[in-house]
Amino acid sequence: MPELRRRVAIWRQAGESVAVVPTMGALHEGHLSLVRQAKAEGGRVIVTIFVNPLQFNSQADLALYPRDEAGDAALLAGSGADLLYVPEASDMYPADFSTSVAVAGLTDGLCGANRVGHFTGMATVVTKLFLRSGADCAYFGEKDFQQLRVVQRMVRDLDLPIRVIGCPTIREADGLAMSSRNRRLPQAARAVAPALYRLMQEAAVALEAGGDVGAVLAETGAAVLAAGFARVEYLELRAEDDLTRLERLSRPARLLAACWLGEVRLIDNVPVRAPAGREDRDAPC
Ligand code: PAF
Repeated sequence: MPELRRRVAIWRQAGESVAVVPTMGALHEGHLSLVRQAKAEGGRVIVTIFVNPLQFNSQADLALYPRDEAGDAALLAGSGADLLYVPEASDMYPADFSTSVAVAGLTDGLCGANRVGHFTGMATVVTKLFLRSGADCAYFGEKDFQQLRVVQRMVRDLDLPIRVIGCPTIREADGLAMSSRNRRLPQAARAVAPALYRLMQEAAVALEAGGDVGAVLAETGAAVLAAGFARVEYLELRAEDDLTRLERLSRPARLLAACWLGEVRLIDNVPVRAPAGREDRDAPC
């Protein structure tokens, strides 16, 4: 950490702003797009790589998480990153580590419902990375949409002096959202995977056309299973800003899903615009 602090202090003395892109490694084009956006907005860019044990609720999942330090460093070389920060777990979490950051409410459903402790682990490490880097802004992908909203709420609630910027999901040519977990998809499953995004887009179109939310979600869930997915963990329509569950498309929304393809859990989300005139009809007087 002293080296990180020293580098940031030099940049600050030179009047430069500092951005951080927190990652767990196994980098892909989605991560690089965050680095490029950070660089394009000016200043220095720190990329952190830390596979955070606190946010895994299964040791098996932690062990299976892909790691590729050499590949990551090579990818970052031409990306515009100024510093790669890779802390050790023992440095992040000394043996008597006993503090955590928990964001209530927003973390209850979706990924929070089935991954106990995930968001508390994530919020704790992100807070530490923000404080260690002293960055002015942080870049997160919209692919982990609930995570983005949790981090934004945490920053607001705790008055952390950092601006959180959400960036669009980067997709493969066939529509599959880029994810480090995609590396674990066997070939046959990889061929099925893009169906999730395609079906979610079709659902968004149906909802925007006035389709009944319950019916569209049920039909889409069935279609995901018919396409070859093993299980739909969740498929829900939530408000874009605070992730309130929506029974009707009364506000700008996101359709969010987590679905299992064999042993691999894929998540994705698509925006759903509220039809003009219906927007805010449910808003309290
Ligand atoms: O999205 C991730 O890769 C992780 O949740 C993050 C933000 C790096 C925290 O460990």
